Amino acid sequence: MLVDGFGRKVDYLRVSVTERCNFRCQYCMPEKPFSWVPKEELLSYEDLFEFIKVGIDEGIKKVRITGGEPLLREGLENFIQMIASYKEDIDLALTTNGFLLDQAAQKLKDAGLKRINVSLDSLKDEVAAKIAQKNVLKKVLKGIEAADKVGLKIKINCVPMKGINDDELVDILNFCKEKGYPVRYIEYMENSHAKDTAKGLTSEEIQEIIKKSYNFKKQERTGPSPSQDYKLDDGYVFGIIEPHKDDFCATCNRIRLTASGVLIPCLYFEDAQSIKEAIQAKDIKKAAAILKDVLANKPEKNKWSTEDNSETSTRAFYETGG
Ligand code: GTP
Ligand code: 5AD
Ligand code: SF4
Repeated sequence: MLVDGFGRKVDYLRVSVTERCNFRCQYCMPEKPFSWVPKEELLSYEDLFEFIKVGIDEGIKKVRITGGEPLLREGLENFIQMIASYKEDIDLALTTNGFLLDQAAQKLKDAGLKRINVSLDSLKDEVAAKIAQKNVLKKVLKGIEAADKVGLKIKINCVPMKGINDDELVDILNFCKEKGYPVRYIEYMENSHAKDTAKGLTSEEIQEIIKKSYNFKKQERTGPSPSQDYKLDDGYVFGIIEPHKDDFCATCNRIRLTASGVLIPCLYFEDAQSIKEAIQAKDIKKAAAILKDVLANKPEKNKWSTEDNSETSTRAFYETGG
């Protein structure tokens, strides 16, 4: 079992396979030109898998593949198959922007993927295009439908932005409710990459908007999920991810590995250690020792909850895997 310095049990590993993305979401990507980490610097699937095995052998029960956009990296289904066949009961999931999901859904399911979380910030073509800075909506909706058809369990993530998609929160909830997908609204997490004008909604503002159409009750937190759930009178449950409160940090169970082999103990934390050398040298003991050291130094809380938010994170989600 893996335990951090605050006694929290860590059993959830998020693995980014690429920082590259085919979207340029306003809240995530820099506006100025920038360059990607060269492909040669990324860990191969074999090396990522070596580390995942270390994690699973030490007590990891849930692996989520993230990016950038993970479906951009060739051979993802083989990688998924490697993980799925190492341990059958592993909770194996993927977070994607959905753009390439239509053609990938069946292969992912066949490889052993169980669950998928897809971003859906708007149901209007022009608004979705404004947020992602690309014409994306039709392909994303087709991707979600394809994933549903092949039997992947779906959750939807939506980042409400002031003056951009805040008039659509109920429409998005209705869409998800009708399809039977839980939706989680995510409070925008300030970072130095995002568009300067990007402004998110607080959990209270999101609730105010939904309250105009639905009655709902706050649910008791039961597990380590970052989502605070709310239940409508008809039983449908939606969530709000509230990083500006620190409620979910006390039960945080996760650690992140970037595509270039950096182990990040908290989404908002500048310190990190690389496992690249140890893994490439096949020094499993060293990799396990680094994992434990990073966990021993995992911070108690993310800084969005404790600091003035003008002091933003220097890491964007495309680098950390969200
Ligand atoms: P489930 O496995 O379905 O519960 O998904 P998940 O919520 O773990 O995964 P997903 O990739 O959909 O994450 C949704 C978002 O929650 C992330 O992109 C982050 O925005 C936020 N989030 C997840 N973990 C943390 C965390 O430890 N700290 C903060 N601040 N936000 C987090
Ligand atoms: N704040 C909140 N959510 C974000 N995401 C990406 N960047 C941010 C941010 N700065 C969301 C994406 C995706 C999930 C992985 O994280 O929309 O749904
Ligand atoms: Fe890409 Fe996700 Fe960042 Fe959007 S939020 S640019 S889809 S990594």
